[in-house]
Amino acid sequence: MTGRLNVVVGVSGGIAAYKAVAVIRALVLAGHDVHVVATEAALRFVGKPTLEAISRNPVHTDLYEGVAQVRHVAIGQAADLIVVAPATAHSIAKIAAGLADDLLGNTILASSAPLVLAPAMHTEMWQNPATVANIATLRARGVTIVGPAIGQLTGSDTGAGRMVDPDDVVSAALAALTVQDLAGRRVLVTAGGTREALDPVRFIGNRSSGRQGVALAVAAASRGAEVTLLAANLEVPVPTGITRIDVVSAGDLASAAALEVNRADIVIMAAAVADYRPAVIAEAKIKKESAGERLTLELVRNPDILSSLSASKRADQIVVGFAAETEPDDAALLEAGRGKVARKGCDYLVLNRVGWAEGFSVPDNDVVMLDLAGDIVMRASGSKASVAHRILDRLA
Ligand code: C5P
Repeated sequence: MTGRLNVVVGVSGGIAAYKAVAVIRALVLAGHDVHVVATEAALRFVGKPTLEAISRNPVHTDLYEGVAQVRHVAIGQAADLIVVAPATAHSIAKIAAGLADDLLGNTILASSAPLVLAPAMHTEMWQNPATVANIATLRARGVTIVGPAIGQLTGSDTGAGRMVDPDDVVSAALAALTVQDLAGRRVLVTAGGTREALDPVRFIGNRSSGRQGVALAVAAASRGAEVTLLAANLEVPVPTGITRIDVVSAGDLASAAALEVNRADIVIMAAAVADYRPAVIAEAKIKKESAGERLTLELVRNPDILSSLSASKRADQIVVGFAAETEPDDAALLEAGRGKVARKGCDYLVLNRVGWAEGFSVPDNDVVMLDLAGDIVMRASGSKASVAHRILDRLA
């Protein structure tokens, strides 16, 4: 993915300027160097000290400051990405017309970086033919327009015009920098861990949080794919823009996968699926008073979804399996992976080690990717997001 970026956040003067603070914060926390260029009007809504403290950089507004450093073009030239949030109707009109009567206008004109605008205004202004034409002009030039959302506006009215949530502005902005090498592809991802009911209140489950699977879904969507996520009891949120279908048990997952698989070009089975389920699900809560000191559960094998999808897949589909193994040494781990990819018949298998303190509910992962022949095609370690991108690099 992307490393540390120089991001210019343009803040124009609307009530939603207070949300710019959260956009700036999210970019800083994601490790980027953020430079705020605010219009005079924006500073009537949020104070410079707030913007400077949150961005950790001086905030510029005045075209006639820093002339010796040719600041009116320097900021734009250095930018890897420009995000204007909020983008008012007025600032959109100025950008569409190429006006440079303030520092933000100059910065945008002097830059060849991707430009992302998050409009915020009242519905009437958003629907006004002037704004509609300006947005069409900007889109035709390749500018990314994120939102606006429909919802409660500043007054008592509701409608189209709300600035989208700061996190969604940030993901759209970073996606604008990502190569769209999965555009037009449909990707089906399974994530999380299934739960097999014992009785109305208990289940047999596993420790999968769904982090790696969700990271794969997010990464695929950011590369332009249309993503469906079969979500099994996730511990992590799923951002908007991904079609989420919730499932509980391995049986639910099998049914949902059967319905979705034909549409998919790529199937990534990151979910931890129970190999066994209770032979009977008790109608009522199992009580120790009747079960006594020792309770024996009878389990039956679940069908292997990955094996059957791999066996019936079309030649133009790619199926990727995951294997989380506890083998302590690398050679044994690799051997287990090689056996599994051969048995399951998937195109690729992503193998990682798990243990009491390894693999689950942690932000990082360390994986080896094998092909059907058992050859190592990729090794990756780092955040689950970066591992997701490395896996997709291989598939794209
Ligand atoms: O055999 P094992 O459970 O280790 O295999 C893991 C891989 O197989 C994962 O990709 C998982 O999603 C998939 N799987 C499946 N159906 C099962 C068990 C596992 O699709 N019943």
